[in-house]
Amino acid sequence: MTTFASTTASIREVAADLLLVPVFTGSDLGPGIKETRLADAYAAARLTGEKGENLLVTRRASDRFAAGAVLLVGVGPKMDFDVTQMRRSLAKATAGARRFPTIATTFALAFGTKLAPEAVQAAVEAMALGSYRFDRYKTRKKDPALSRATVVVSARWDTKGVKRAITRGAVVGEAVAWARDLVNTPAGDLPPAKIARAAQAMAKQAGLTCKVWNETQLEQGGFGGILGVGQGSVHPPRMIELRYTGAGRATPIALTGKGIAFDSGGLSLKDVGGMETMKDDMGGAASILAAMKAIAKLKPKINVIAAIPCSENMPSGSAQKPGDVITHRGGTTSEVLNTDAEGRLVLADALAYLAERKPSCIVDTATLTGACVVALGTDITGAFGNDDVLVQELVAAGTRVGEPIWQMPLHRDYRALIDSKVADIKNTGKRYGGSITAAWFLAEFVGDTPWVHLDIAGPAFSEGGNDLGPAGATGVPVRTIVRFLLDRAGA
Ligand code: BES
Ligand code: MN
Ligand code: ZN
Repeated sequence: MTTFASTTASIREVAADLLLVPVFTGSDLGPGIKETRLADAYAAARLTGEKGENLLVTRRASDRFAAGAVLLVGVGPKMDFDVTQMRRSLAKATAGARRFPTIATTFALAFGTKLAPEAVQAAVEAMALGSYRFDRYKTRKKDPALSRATVVVSARWDTKGVKRAITRGAVVGEAVAWARDLVNTPAGDLPPAKIARAAQAMAKQAGLTCKVWNETQLEQGGFGGILGVGQGSVHPPRMIELRYTGAGRATPIALTGKGIAFDSGGLSLKDVGGMETMKDDMGGAASILAAMKAIAKLKPKINVIAAIPCSENMPSGSAQKPGDVITHRGGTTSEVLNTDAEGRLVLADALAYLAERKPSCIVDTATLTGACVVALGTDITGAFGNDDVLVQELVAAGTRVGEPIWQMPLHRDYRALIDSKVADIKNTGKRYGGSITAAWFLAEFVGDTPWVHLDIAGPAFSEGGNDLGPAGATGVPVRTIVRFLLDRAGA
């Protein structure tokens, strides 16, 4: 566990094993390099502040700083240095500084009073995300944990605002780390019932109401999609229902996320490569659980309800078969032509259930389609919805937190592609436009509730790692969802 803090101490007096200092290209060097008198050292190393440049200077007796070492981090031109850039370069630098148990940074000082709260929060997030690692299964070589991370702030900045930003950053960082842990945990160790148990433990600790629907209850409730997808697995499905009440009897915001503990494809079996990362197919569920955990701690004045479907998609003698017809919650029937298009089947039930609760809007997130990865690549989330204003709210939240989201078209004419000859709808469209027909399938279940669907098949998992974290789960879109909810609460 890392402790996060701020300090108004002068840069020279900041005591930490390592002080992280940004260096811009050009004559404006960045906060901390002059104070530590390291501009000459930087120049002597023939560095110019380009992105990717690093210079580690350890303290000698004659040096004018208290930190054990200073890492000068090239961050490019000052003009382009916004909060998103800062979060990325600081996270990356933090990842490279794991051997230092305590770190501090002057990165946030690159911003003025107006951006201070956002910059301080982002600096904390950066150090939390960058220091994240998943080594639970390593028996050798475990990195020491980062024990303390301090943001150097200006004494002119509002103390309360700084404190709140530190808390927000720490809460969000912890939530993202938890989501990453859930996704990184092998499917063999995290079947639906265990995801539900983790949710219950979280809810108890955070003070949320939690109800776990078991198989019998799902049957009685008519959740044919969640049950159908799970019927081939020896690990029975669950649905996790969470409630956060921060605004009395106000209309709640509804959330759901795809929780496929493992997606083998079912009888429409995936190939070897396609299955390799499919423990990540509960990334949507994990991010909603984590967002709820963060909201429970930040206590905005809103109400939130979440219903998270968890099934394991496996082939077996009891598995659903191509051609089977499912009856979803609420009575809509769907023809399962491809058992690998299972995410929409479990989400359908959860969306129908949430729409019954008459929420102000529904946001779902899912590792839903390979087609979305083809369209937007690995880094960008696709957003679909029946309400452009709501879609843009999420796009804006994503932009603000550095989780890029792009609106995709719910093109009317493509709705007919999921008409079925035997049931109300079928679970696959044609070869092309696969992320759109998947979204149309979901749209059938929300009625006229304003709704956004975030397809995170690309960004949920990073095979090689990125600036914000190591290879594996990314925790996308936890930060977007939390930002969206705080925006809705006017906080
Ligand atoms: N979980 C997959 C989607 C996925 C693919 C996520 C790659 C992350 C990376 C989903 O259940 C799936 O298999 N979708 C199919 C749908 C098709 C059968 C209509 C796909 O995208 O190929
Ligand atoms: Mn699938
Ligand atoms: Zn899937």
